[in-house]
Amino acid sequence: MRNIVLVGFMGTGKSTVAAELAQRLGWSRIDLDASIERAEGKSIPELFAERGEAYFRAAETEALRRELVGRSRQVVATGGGAVLAEGNRDIMLANGLVVALTATAETIISRVHNDPNRPLLRGNAEKSVPELMEQRKHAYDFAHVRIDTTDKTVEQIVGLIEERLRAGG
Ligand code: S3P
Repeated sequence: MRNIVLVGFMGTGKSTVAAELAQRLGWSRIDLDASIERAEGKSIPELFAERGEAYFRAAETEALRRELVGRSRQVVATGGGAVLAEGNRDIMLANGLVVALTATAETIISRVHNDPNRPLLRGNAEKSVPELMEQRKHAYDFAHVRIDTTDKTVEQIVGLIEERLRAGG
């Protein structure tokens, strides 16, 4: 497997796990949202407010291609909605081990509560997280591996991914 691609709903710990896993493997860490922000010269909330979600999704697909295709030894943390387009899922599956992180709605709400950088939550995580989770309940099923992060430490999650990697994915 050339890369590890972390997918999952907002607040499932993709960025934190990516940082720790990349360090343990000696691989590069890529944050897809940060890559979009650099390429566009705007923050995610600015992009949503000024250009709209469709524009953001197109920039996300471009970033995925730019960061993944033809590259290796990277741990890539994607945004929670990067899995929605079939073309994006194909890019991920073709270029790495895709690991889905999951968590309960309660855990996610406690992690993303009051976060101004997540425009889709519209400042009301208690209402929007369960709604979005319902809409996306099968969105992460395509991943090679699924890990429930509830009640697990970052070290435990990283250990589980390393095991899968050693077993050949
Ligand atoms: C989104 C998740 C965010 C970010 C954007 C849209 C989504 O990333 O890409 O706000 O559609 O779930 P995180 O999952 O890192 O919060």
